[in-house]
Amino acid sequence: MTKTELLYEGKAKKIWKTEDEDFLISEFKDDLTAFNGEKKSSEDGKGALNNQISSALFELLNEKGIQTHFVKMLDDNNMLHKSCEVIKLEVIVRNIATGSLSKNLGIENGKVLPFTLVEFDYKNDALGDPKLNDQHALILGLVKHQDELDKIRRVAREINDILKPYFFEKGLKLVDFKLEFGKDKNGNIILIDELSPDNCRFWDIESGESLDKDRFRQGKGGLKVAYTQVLNRILNK
Ligand code: C5P
Repeated sequence: MTKTELLYEGKAKKIWKTEDEDFLISEFKDDLTAFNGEKKSSEDGKGALNNQISSALFELLNEKGIQTHFVKMLDDNNMLHKSCEVIKLEVIVRNIATGSLSKNLGIENGKVLPFTLVEFDYKNDALGDPKLNDQHALILGLVKHQDELDKIRRVAREINDILKPYFFEKGLKLVDFKLEFGKDKNGNIILIDELSPDNCRFWDIESGESLDKDRFRQGKGGLKVAYTQVLNRILNK
């Protein structure tokens, strides 16, 4: 399948239509943004790393019975996936407190949470992706029924139950991550978007070092080395 028309350009990906209306191609870009687009940069090869990492993780989740939009990796920067109606929720799953959770609620950075926290943010750049509760999501019409929110929360936890031990075995703590969901043409809620160090936090179990976009957010450098480490651990290299 090939790209026909540019459907949408986001901060980290271009989404292309294909000859078949049921399928789209995501082109992973080298661009980096943080703090709702206020900090910008680019790193050669970052897009290809995220495409490979996301493809491997979607494959793992598909094998474990999680429904995702992933079809296949086409080449270094391009992934073929199903076309879905995007649910405008950012689903944040947290095992360890850091980032906005520590900042907003004063929970000590690095504190292991007593249970996995699942939060919803409104996917809306103009409003700065504010936090939502279920009632807000229903009032905004982001989903039709409470059942759909319950399902999203349940699947988010199932994904964490697969990925947390998977990364632990590879010497990484899965600190937190952001998921997005969409509805496929049959109305099924499935996992979409990407799973990469751009939207997950990974801490090395031994050194405590961040191997994710926090390197860019915090101006630490070494981003590509960190992302390559994540990929190599996934590939058992
Ligand atoms: O910034 P915060 O602590 O809320 O981020 C929680 C997790 O969600 C992090 O892994 C971060 O990379 C991810 N995230 C994201 N896109 C956003 C907000 C958060 O990928 N717009």
